[in-house]
Amino acid sequence: MELAGKRILVTGGAGFIGSELCARLLGRGNNVVCFDNFSSGNEEFIANLRSNPKFTVLRGDMLKQRELKKALKGCQTVIHLAANPDVRLGESDTHVHFEQNVVATYNLLEAMKELKMKELVFASSSVVYGVAKVMPTPEDYGPLLPISLYGASKLACEALISAYSNNFGITSVLMRYANIIGRHAHGVTRDFKKKLEANPAELEILGDGTQTKSYLHLSDCIAGTLLAAEKTASGVEAYNLGSEDKLNVKTIADIVSGEMGLANVEYKFTGKQAWAGDIKVMLLSVEKIKRMGWRPKLNSEEAVRKAVREMLGKE
Ligand SMILES: NC(=O)c1ccc[n+]([C@@H]2O[C@H](COP(=O)([O-])OP(=O)(O)OC[C@H]3O[C@@H](n4cnc5c(N)ncnc54)[C@H](O)[C@@H]3O)[C@@H](O)[C@H]2O)c1
Repeated sequence: MELAGKRILVTGGAGFIGSELCARLLGRGNNVVCFDNFSSGNEEFIANLRSNPKFTVLRGDMLKQRELKKALKGCQTVIHLAANPDVRLGESDTHVHFEQNVVATYNLLEAMKELKMKELVFASSSVVYGVAKVMPTPEDYGPLLPISLYGASKLACEALISAYSNNFGITSVLMRYANIIGRHAHGVTRDFKKKLEANPAELEILGDGTQTKSYLHLSDCIAGTLLAAEKTASGVEAYNLGSEDKLNVKTIADIVSGEMGLANVEYKFTGKQAWAGDIKVMLLSVEKIKRMGWRPKLNSEEAVRKAVREMLGKE
């Protein structure tokens, strides 16, 4: 997939990953259309891009075909990030991921089919592997048995994309991300910061603190995503993207409290499992993307520390 000179639609372009991706594409000279309903996206994340004449922002919803088709007109490539990424939500709301992730992706594929669009990059997730028995987990691991409804929705999206690609000649790149972190990341670092601001003496940690996962900084994520897109010439390819080591949640708590200048914070663990769909250990094999020349610049601990410092305005 040649990205140079293309007009690229970024769905979810006002989100944490999307806004940085839009910035990077504009920096490479692309025309970029950001399509977002601002449900979790933020106008502030893209404010500095607004003055770029090659940047278009369209407020619209993936569930509304008409808005989507309008946004797609004139674009050659789609990078599809729009989703509800809140894994825990599936415990209480069994509909949201089906609608916001699966139906949204189906709508996109239908619109792409009608407009004869041929290039798609999709933000999938490590959670499609479920509780993997092979670590680091390679792309060809199976069977894929997700344990969260979010994971199930991402796997369903991958399946739909694969079938549409086969039937309608779309070249598709499935990016299976580890935990991506940075200044505006959701998840554990933000959660700890918020809790410690409210009570600097005590921190509630979901689970027992031993959950151990791979964390990748946003800058490495964007570089890997663009490289994978450019190296995929046809068909459907899945790529893992993560750092090559993992970090436990208790260490993340130490990093956040340390960077906030807090000492002797009392940690309160909630129990063995953080929530029903949480995967306790995750490490992806990134050999496939490494063979193409990508390497994470930061390991998990460096990535988390940098993200926390960015979040605190220290970097
Ligand atoms: N951040 C991570 O660690 C991580 C890991 C694996 C996969 N992903 C995937 O990467 C993508 C981006 O994640 P993120 O962390 O930037 O999340 P985010 O919530 O910041 O971004 C999602 C964006 O999509 C928009 N959106 C949601 N529903 C929409 C709809 N119906 N129509 C139009 N726009 C809509 C939101 O407003 C938001 O701007 C998601 O697909 C997520 O599942 C993220």
